[in-house]
Amino acid sequence: MNTLTLAHYYTVPEVQQMADYVGDSLELALIAQREQAERIVFAGVKFMAETTKIINPDVEVILPDEEATCSLVTQTDITQLKRWREKYADYIHVSYINSSAEHKLLSDWIVTSRNVDDIISHLYEQGEKVIFSPDRNMGAYLNYQYGYQMPIWNAVCEVHDQFKEGEVMKLLSENKDAKLIAHPESPLPVLKRSDFIGSTKQMLEWVKKYRASPKSVIYVATEEGLLYNMKQLRHDLDIRQAPIYAGCQCNACPYMKRNTPALVKKAQQGIGFEIDYLDNDTMDRARVPIEKMLSFSKIKASQRVA
Ligand code: 13P
Ligand code: SF4
Repeated sequence: MNTLTLAHYYTVPEVQQMADYVGDSLELALIAQREQAERIVFAGVKFMAETTKIINPDVEVILPDEEATCSLVTQTDITQLKRWREKYADYIHVSYINSSAEHKLLSDWIVTSRNVDDIISHLYEQGEKVIFSPDRNMGAYLNYQYGYQMPIWNAVCEVHDQFKEGEVMKLLSENKDAKLIAHPESPLPVLKRSDFIGSTKQMLEWVKKYRASPKSVIYVATEEGLLYNMKQLRHDLDIRQAPIYAGCQCNACPYMKRNTPALVKKAQQGIGFEIDYLDNDTMDRARVPIEKMLSFSKIKASQRVA
């Protein structure tokens, strides 16, 4: 069987080495749509595998471990979300891709951390009013950065929410040359202090291009898996994870880490948690806002090349 293995940057290095492609959420969705696979093993979390199934309904999609979920999904009650959405009936509902299929079908647009700024700015340019879910930190950042007044759903990434401004500032004040880069799921006070904010892939690109004296320190406010990729690109930099409330530089996503090499190997043989429980109506409705995002991103990418 023609099997494609995709891995997110937060999986352990051994799993990344087993994958055909490693990337951020947007990249992996675009690859899943482009490649003609019969089976896709998604070494990531459930919402990523569900998105892959929704845009490739005829492909067998396997998640190595059923428990690989995401706190942004588990903190969002769909009945309450429906009520919230109805309260803002004349608004455009923009949802982060870190959401369940049932959440996506209540959305007008899906975004990832890489295209959220562009898509929301495009909607405001069209004169729309916007509500944003489920990530409270990302929504707070967008409102702060662009002066929007979007109503925001209240859920967080339990990993990124751990980064604390006080600990980070202490380290930055001890070393004036140090830089801080962050994922937009981090708390707003940390984002306000950051030299760069972006998706996992965008942070990697920033590190790749960073011009610095040898051993410049870069603190990274994201899951520890990405630091492996950063260190591979830049041996000359001192790359460290930003501190969390406990003062340590340690912060891992327990869901991403459920993708052990042994489970990924089994999944490649067709044994794992198959995404076969979404009915056609759910997939058809959830596909609409995802496809809008994928088309928007392809047009943007072609404009950048031209
Ligand atoms: P990226 O799209 O930036 O890879 O983010 C996915 C994610 O789950 C971050 O916690
Ligand atoms: Fe979800 Fe956070 Fe893990 Fe990303 S790092 S999958 S947002 S819990």
